[in-house]
Amino acid sequence: MNRLGRKISITITLCILFVFIFYLMINSYLLPKYYLFQMKNRVHDLSTEINKMPMAEFKQSINQLEQENNVTIAYEPIQTNLDHFNGILRDNLYQKRVTLNKFWVTEDTINQVKSGKRISKIYNQGKLKSSFLVDFIQKDNVFIVVGVSIVYLSDAVQIVNKFTIYIMIFLILMLILMVWIWSKKITDPLKELKDISIEIAQLEFKKAKISTNDEIEELAQSINEMSDKLRIAHDDLNQRNANLKTFISDISHELKTPLALIKAYSAGIKDGIDDGTYVDTIIRQTDQINRLIDKLLELSRIEREILHVEQFDLIKLFESSLENFEIELNQNNITLTKEYIGTNQLNIEVDRDQFEKVFNNLISNAIKYTKYPEIKIKIYEENEEILFKIKNETNLKNSTQIKQMWEPFYVMEASRNKHLTGTGLGLAIVKSILYRHHLKHDVELIDGNIQFSIHFPKPLQ
Ligand SMILES: Nc1ncnc2c1ncn2[C@@H]1O[C@H](COP(=O)(O)OP(=O)(O)OP(=O)(O)O)[C@@H](O)[C@H]1O
Ligand SMILES: [Mg+2]
Repeated sequence: MNRLGRKISITITLCILFVFIFYLMINSYLLPKYYLFQMKNRVHDLSTEINKMPMAEFKQSINQLEQENNVTIAYEPIQTNLDHFNGILRDNLYQKRVTLNKFWVTEDTINQVKSGKRISKIYNQGKLKSSFLVDFIQKDNVFIVVGVSIVYLSDAVQIVNKFTIYIMIFLILMLILMVWIWSKKITDPLKELKDISIEIAQLEFKKAKISTNDEIEELAQSINEMSDKLRIAHDDLNQRNANLKTFISDISHELKTPLALIKAYSAGIKDGIDDGTYVDTIIRQTDQINRLIDKLLELSRIEREILHVEQFDLIKLFESSLENFEIELNQNNITLTKEYIGTNQLNIEVDRDQFEKVFNNLISNAIKYTKYPEIKIKIYEENEEILFKIKNETNLKNSTQIKQMWEPFYVMEASRNKHLTGTGLGLAIVKSILYRHHLKHDVELIDGNIQFSIHFPKPLQ
């Protein structure tokens, strides 16, 4: 039997033993006393009743009184000859089938009864294993005996107790069997939960299938939920680890390319084969490294920086970022199509400095990578949200690839060829800022256009 079953069996067995022992003790000590008390009461009540009756009525109703009260009644006028008197009384009783070994009314008793007292006595009958309990009363100088035979209860009690012990043993055996079956029902699912917990601890996120319709099932559901959440957190951590590895290898790669060029061109200068452009190339590559390191520092700073969130009008905030690109837009003859829809001011709660970076990156990307010289911007309210969307034409076709743009150093082949590409960290910085602001964002391809969108929840007041 399992430990739980053993504990329950022992506890219940001890309870049963306690109850039965208590019961046996009551049977042995209190029951005989109670029996005698009841018998005495019965005889007393009857003798009191007889005392109140007229003699004639008493004589008439003796049989009825005996039957109703299950007693024996004998009577005889009081005499001075004790032997004769006792003999007659015993005869009277004998005729009523009461055979007594020991029964003797003393003179003293007669005198007391004569004086109107009621005398109670118990005559132990020795080997007959019974006693004769009597009340003596006197009525019109007639001595009346109201008696009842009481058996020795101790024998009967012993037999009852013995029988009780058998019942107790049988009950305890039944109980152990029932507890064994019942505890198995409880402990089987608990064991399953224990095994699942061990597996979870070993990062095997399994689920328990338990339908006991009680607290154990609720516990299983909680463990399943925990297992699910741990799996998600674990997968997320693994993914982040993998991302970090890719990120580090990407940084190394991004740094190695310009460094290799710097080394090659420096060697060219040393060997005297410089055609006058080598130093420019070296400066360009150094600038590239510098830009990359600046952006990397920016990316890591954003993740640590304390946010200073305030309320701003989204349109004003965006327009102020847009001003920085006026010259670039003119130079590239790019038309801006703006659609601002909203009844009130469209307020959002953000960190201004960080959000300028978001808009700068999105606008500069749109200018750099648009296929057709038009950029469409839309700001509007929808349900409980304020939406910002920026859209430009693109050659990109693969919508799953598009989602990877948010990853650091992800540069589309199409833009690599155009020599437009920067560090490939712009959108990673945007994503990091949006993530810190808990803002939903997306990029999608719509009819040959690429569209970036940000969802802002409306401020509460
Ligand atoms: N609006 C856009 N239209 C088309 N392609 C885009 C657009 N925005 C981003 N891309 C693609 O996603 C890549 C990643 O963009 P991201 O801003 O992260 O880096 P980047 O612009 O190359 O470098 P940086 O922003 O550091 O100067 C870009 O190289 C480009 O291929
Ligand atoms: Mg960019």
